[in-house]
Amino acid sequence: MKQNSASHLVFSSEPFTLIYMADEKPAPKPPPKQAAPQAAGAKPPPKQVAVQQKPAVQQAAAQTRVTLSKPKVKIGGGILAQMKAGKESSLENIEERVAGIEGFDEVKMPELFKTFYSTLAPKMTLPRTSYTILKAFANIDVTTEKVAGCLKLNQYYGSQFFKNIASVQKREELPTAEGAVLLLGMQNSRNFIIGMQMLRTVTGAHPEWTKEGKLKTAPNELIKCALKVEEVLAGDKSSYSDTAYAAGVMFDILTLIAMNTVEDKKKISAYIDTVFTHSLLAAKIGKELARNMPDFSFTKYIFAACLIHDIGKVMLAIMNPQYYQYVEEVGKKGLPRIIRHYAEGKQYGVNHALLGGLACNFYKIFKPIDKAILYHHEPYLLRTANKGMFQLASMVCLATNMATSFKKVDRGDDPVLLQWKGPEIRDFRIDNRAIISATQKAV
Ligand SMILES: [Fe+2]
Ligand SMILES: [Fe+2]
Repeated sequence: MKQNSASHLVFSSEPFTLIYMADEKPAPKPPPKQAAPQAAGAKPPPKQVAVQQKPAVQQAAAQTRVTLSKPKVKIGGGILAQMKAGKESSLENIEERVAGIEGFDEVKMPELFKTFYSTLAPKMTLPRTSYTILKAFANIDVTTEKVAGCLKLNQYYGSQFFKNIASVQKREELPTAEGAVLLLGMQNSRNFIIGMQMLRTVTGAHPEWTKEGKLKTAPNELIKCALKVEEVLAGDKSSYSDTAYAAGVMFDILTLIAMNTVEDKKKISAYIDTVFTHSLLAAKIGKELARNMPDFSFTKYIFAACLIHDIGKVMLAIMNPQYYQYVEEVGKKGLPRIIRHYAEGKQYGVNHALLGGLACNFYKIFKPIDKAILYHHEPYLLRTANKGMFQLASMVCLATNMATSFKKVDRGDDPVLLQWKGPEIRDFRIDNRAIISATQKAV
């Protein structure tokens, strides 16, 4: 677990744990009790100004991790370990004393947060085989052997894969794993594994086969968003296309969850479509913005980060059907983006950025960019903590602002430029020419 110096509120992928990290500076050493004997003729030492000691609780707080865990509050190990070692007797009963502060034990985990951990997070945790194959494709030198290796890694999907091969080839003898991958094609083999494993993880069901030995649900039917992203980036040989595919898969997983859990399927699928369309435009814009930024270090993730920046909205809609109504009403009021974001957190106990950041941790592929998703509405919080992440979060913020009120711009004095570069990215240096160029090339 890492400390986030920006806000001090950090989260870990350990279920049910929100952690507040207090400054962990060591407490100042007490002055020596007795002055050293004074040498003859030496000047008397200057009078010590009495420094008032901070109360014990305050000192302890400066060294303590306070772990807010489900649903009560308890004090983390650092201070308790010291107390056990008998090093700080003044800290006795610190846990009871802190928990005794009025209102302190009323910190409760929001309901939607619990629902996220119990229902969505396990399904968004990328299984090993899917993770391995997505990682393999993120490498430019992905080989047939690597893909075949994934099949050998998991015999269950290996056998399903060969069953599928048997239905498409006429020969009686089955090929080797490498031969089977060649026969189906590298991308189709990846799609098969991702689609089948997604079905199993989300629904718990085994794939169904027709009497003729064909799959009832073709894997490509399950990964429409990932395939759409691949189609958009076809011919683009940049390093971001595979992380972009993985970002599309995130939408596909949530779509499958929604289709299996949400009552009003028409409404939820329309909402997912709305978020996906907005995010895809933001991703195209982000990709173009990054091209004009030579010192940008997250090029590999820019498309993916923009694509999944609002994935938490889909999660909120799946967990709480009233979320659509909330979005509609807030939209009608024409409130500024930052106020809408604040209101969402107040209304639901969590906001979509926090859920999105958490999902990145479970999904593993996007763990390196979780903070950019978490702070895509407040990128300034990352400014001093992490320059690269600040740039990525700012770029996502700018791209989503542009996607929300998109238009092609050809003049540097167009007022929309000021509107897009809102106060939240005031410290992010980007030339207007880069923004103008992005509007020309993104669509
Ligand atoms: Fe957002
Ligand atoms: Fe957005």
